[in-house]
Amino acid sequence: MTYYDDFVPHDGLRSPRAALDSTTPRLVLDGDWRFRLSPRADVPVDFTEPGFDDSGWATLPVPSHWPLRGHGNPWYTNVVYPFPVDPPHPPEENPTGDHRIAFDLPDDWAGRPVVLRFDGVESCAKVWLNGAELGFFTGSRLPAEFDVTPAPGRNVLAVRVHQWSAASYLEDQDQWWLPGIFRSVSLALRSDLDDVFVHASYLDGQGTLLVDASAPATVRVPELGIEVATGETVTVPVEPWSAEHPRLYEATVATADETVRLRVGFRTVSIVDGVLLVNGEPLQLRGVNRHEFHPDHGRAVPLETMRADVLLMKRHNVNAVRTSHYPPHPAFLDLCDELGLWVIDECDLETHGFYFAGWDKNPSDVPEWRESYLDRMRRTVERDKNHPSIVIWSLGNESHTGANLAAMASWVRDRDPSRPVHYEGDADCAYVDVYSRMYASHEEVDKIGQEPGIPFLQCEYAHAMGNGPGGLAEYVELFDRYPRIAGGFVWEWIDHGLRHPELEYAYGGDYGEPLHDGNFVIDGLLYPDRTPSPGLLDLKKVYEPIRISFADGRVTVTEKRPVPPLRFEWTAGTESGELDLSTGSAPLPALPAFTEETWLTVRAVLATDQPWAAAGHEIAWAQEPVAPRAPLPTGGSYRPQQTDDGFSFGPAEFDRTGRLRAFGGLTVGAPHLTLWRAPTDNDKGPSAKLHDTWHALGLHRLTHRLDGVSAGDTLVVRERSAAAALPRGARVTYEWAAAGDGLALTVTVEPDGEWPEPIGKLAVTLPLPASIDTVTWYGRGPGEAYPDTGLATWVGAFESTVEELQTPYVRPQENGRRAAVRWATLTDPAGRGLRIAGDFGLTVRRWTDADLAAATHRNELTKGDAVWLTIDVGQQGIGTGSCGPGALPEYVLTLRKTSFTVVFSPLS
Ligand code: GAL
Repeated sequence: MTYYDDFVPHDGLRSPRAALDSTTPRLVLDGDWRFRLSPRADVPVDFTEPGFDDSGWATLPVPSHWPLRGHGNPWYTNVVYPFPVDPPHPPEENPTGDHRIAFDLPDDWAGRPVVLRFDGVESCAKVWLNGAELGFFTGSRLPAEFDVTPAPGRNVLAVRVHQWSAASYLEDQDQWWLPGIFRSVSLALRSDLDDVFVHASYLDGQGTLLVDASAPATVRVPELGIEVATGETVTVPVEPWSAEHPRLYEATVATADETVRLRVGFRTVSIVDGVLLVNGEPLQLRGVNRHEFHPDHGRAVPLETMRADVLLMKRHNVNAVRTSHYPPHPAFLDLCDELGLWVIDECDLETHGFYFAGWDKNPSDVPEWRESYLDRMRRTVERDKNHPSIVIWSLGNESHTGANLAAMASWVRDRDPSRPVHYEGDADCAYVDVYSRMYASHEEVDKIGQEPGIPFLQCEYAHAMGNGPGGLAEYVELFDRYPRIAGGFVWEWIDHGLRHPELEYAYGGDYGEPLHDGNFVIDGLLYPDRTPSPGLLDLKKVYEPIRISFADGRVTVTEKRPVPPLRFEWTAGTESGELDLSTGSAPLPALPAFTEETWLTVRAVLATDQPWAAAGHEIAWAQEPVAPRAPLPTGGSYRPQQTDDGFSFGPAEFDRTGRLRAFGGLTVGAPHLTLWRAPTDNDKGPSAKLHDTWHALGLHRLTHRLDGVSAGDTLVVRERSAAAALPRGARVTYEWAAAGDGLALTVTVEPDGEWPEPIGKLAVTLPLPASIDTVTWYGRGPGEAYPDTGLATWVGAFESTVEELQTPYVRPQENGRRAAVRWATLTDPAGRGLRIAGDFGLTVRRWTDADLAAATHRNELTKGDAVWLTIDVGQQGIGTGSCGPGALPEYVLTLRKTSFTVVFSPLS
């Protein structure tokens, strides 16, 4: 056995302790190191002596992952191990990176004991200082410290990092495998004040503080007039810490030689009658799961990116984060303390790949791994214990169950009884304090909410892969309804797409990985560049901390969670003003009589600047109709006229078969029935399986046979639409009638045969000239909306371009539909085009559904010679079937007899 295929997690490390901000001098070794990559682990150890000549080596920045710096490739798997399941052995092909850096010891450090710290190295490192071996460690997302005595002057640190080790069996999280020294390396003078443990609780206006430290010291909280010794308890009036009001008190813990700076937040987590409470109030976790990710840097996330994440969360009404599935960089937790997010801090542990072996030899229940499990938990808790934002410890993720997990839980309870223990895999709740599930259906969550028991949360729900997630509103409604439900965390925060020169963003398989899970790593609320997707906008809407409602001529605001001072603005048409909702309710503003459909919009915005957003930032809104929509124009003077080669009818030309070929002088094609859509990830998902169903039904290859054409007052075309090989079909009648200066098209669809299965959409699609580039509409906008998504869209008038109407999902799929459209105009740069009125879903793109379905990355979608217009009267719900339940029954679309009318008018 070598150190990298041993159950022993490390050798030579100091005991774990808190990450502390201390006055002790520190030397950060981040920067350019020398680097050499070998394909195996057992290559000669020839590089540790200070005199070794590394001039031929590459230069590599630390922190970084070497595959993202041109050495080897990233590899993505979800559940499967990318090596044989043969614990504790890693594979022989084990990329091994040798790293070297020379540094000069500050003069006044000479001869003094020093601590060498690694904040994160994936997955196993052996370390030498000036040729002397210090030891080795595993635990990729955990700190590791060695006691060292550097030489005066020049020193050389040598680190050998193996991509794979026994510990890789414990790090099977669904993410890219990215070896390297990806967090900081530093040195600090050793002090007596090694470790500090802050206990700060809150009850009825009083905060109780006790600071334990590894050496006697003085604790000072100047703002509270506290000056006590470590180990001494003091109770004083304080403001409590919460995610909404993250009140921190600056504190110091000082010895004669050293001062540790702390930010203390007072709060008490408790469980009373099955309800999870903080400071006596039910904890309402409206959360997201966050992996550390940056499209260029992987998990070596820059500080400003961590801050951007927290700000984005706060600005989207997210109040909680689960650090899936490992402790994040400590600076991220500082930001959560400071800006206010409830945190579930999760240990770096996942053994999901044993699932395929029926959990045989799963480390969670194998005694040889026990020490590794405990070690990981200790290093998590000790490092992060002083963060008020952390309200729950999580043992890890998807590691089934076993004695080692139970041992971790009991260690946590001893060490920190102030926070409940979470672990989703403990299905029987034998050793956890909260019942946790992932992707439970609405129905099940509803049931759990009504049953008595320990607090419940969904550690993962609403899989944000591609278009979606659908069903958010219904989940959050259940969270709001049942006290037992502490809330949930959407899976997940960001798409892990790696920036790629051709593909734009790469996912599994794009680096030639022999085994991978494709785009399952692209399942975030943010695109890889951190642009919010429609899913995040929807989440912001359902996570609103207040509810604005309309009834009996009044506007009412109800608080779900504490909010900063707000201002209420309203608009209706061109009218606008402010509402005084200080008493919680106000009469609707006096409005003129509108001649067109008009909605009153009430928006709650921040009245004052907050650390996470400026005054004016919107946190909630609601709409109410105040003038109804206008009826569609009917009747007109045109009649269909027979021509040499077809029909002319008002602004339109039809061929002999009655198929449209020109409208308002523009060359256009005939509308035909479409029942398919380019499958979303959720349509493809295991529980929805719609993609397979639609293929079996041939929905993606419908053909259209003319059944008859007749011209009288109107032009009537009858078609039968069906797929080759199949008897089923649909009979479709297209009736064109004069309507004002345009034509009304009434489409009647009748199933021919039984159609019990869900279909993609019920629509007609037609090609328009490629010169069409501008789209305006009145309906829901500005973003896309499907039956169970688009909660963030409101009714109004919008303008966009064909390009901007596309939602840039990393793997192309159905997207960009605008819902509840009353009218739309589609025009070219000269203003020529058409207007459509009715009540429909609108999709406009420069490629067909088939092109969209065939594309695997954004770069494959290229302009065609037409603009494709789709007018739908139904879409299948989106659901979250990529991982979790499909669309709720009320959002399932099947083929039934349907009739709808839209009016086309020419624009010139
Ligand atoms: C969960 C898992 C996550 C992720 C998700 C699917 O089972 O905990 O890590 O894999 O499924 O994206």
